[in-house]
Amino acid sequence: MTENMPGKVYLNGEYLPLSEAKISVLDRGFLFGDGVYEVIPSYSGQLFRLHDHLKRLKESLGRIRLNLTYDSEKWLEILTPLLDNNKDQYIYLQITRGVAPKRDHAFPKDPKPTVFSMCSDLQPFAGVETGVKALTMEDSRWELCNVKATTLLANILLRQAAIEQGAAEAILHKNGYITEGAASNLFAVINDVLVTPKNTSEILPGITRKVILELAEKSNIQTQEETISIQALKTASEIWITSSTREIVPVIRLDSEAVGDGKPGIVWHKMNHLFQQYKRA
Ligand SMILES: Cc1ncc(COP(=O)(O)O)c(C=O)c1O
Repeated sequence: MTENMPGKVYLNGEYLPLSEAKISVLDRGFLFGDGVYEVIPSYSGQLFRLHDHLKRLKESLGRIRLNLTYDSEKWLEILTPLLDNNKDQYIYLQITRGVAPKRDHAFPKDPKPTVFSMCSDLQPFAGVETGVKALTMEDSRWELCNVKATTLLANILLRQAAIEQGAAEAILHKNGYITEGAASNLFAVINDVLVTPKNTSEILPGITRKVILELAEKSNIQTQEETISIQALKTASEIWITSSTREIVPVIRLDSEAVGDGKPGIVWHKMNHLFQQYKRA
């Protein structure tokens, strides 16, 4: 059994107090945002859907052509000492293309990736029970939104714009169709069907999204992975935004209109209950 290490972070093979974890200013993560990351919830010390998160991490690494061949056992060995069995937490895990001798867009020869991980307490998101307001905005991101890249400027600006207008999330659209939230996937109940945009390179393949689709199938909730136009979203009786840290958040106002009757809907109540049961199991 590895001992828990509260307050410690992992950096390139070492466990250190946060204040002692340092990287070079020539790290390509710092200079270019040349890296990928994962956020993995841990409930009472058990990493939630670790296999799915590591699969997505491997895909992200592959798409940015960064070679790091750690297997699940190696990741478990790295992450376990950061966890506290008595808490709900989340792991933040980041891998960059490492330090290069000089700032140059082209990849360095034989890059040595920087591997960093830390663990934080998971606080229930305040808007889950009451529902939140969201605003639709043009998706200004790049074409590889299926990569969980640390380069998040567009997402940050969109989320910030939403917050400054009193909303919790920006719901993004491209060419008239909904993609996802600035840091979440989107579900909508339209004509009694639970619909979510298809997994394409325009969205991040969310693990919470995947779990919801599985739970819906087991519980005979009809689902569809389909394009959702902005107009169709405006007719939805329920809208949810989903992510590992906020879980399933009902949207009760979209732009200036109430969604459904302006309260978290019946399908959300059912799915949230199923999700809470599932994560504790
Ligand atoms: C852009 C984006 N889409 C979707 C998600 C949801 O992914 P997950 O459910 O794996 O947390 C996130 C999570 O942060 C995100 O940043």
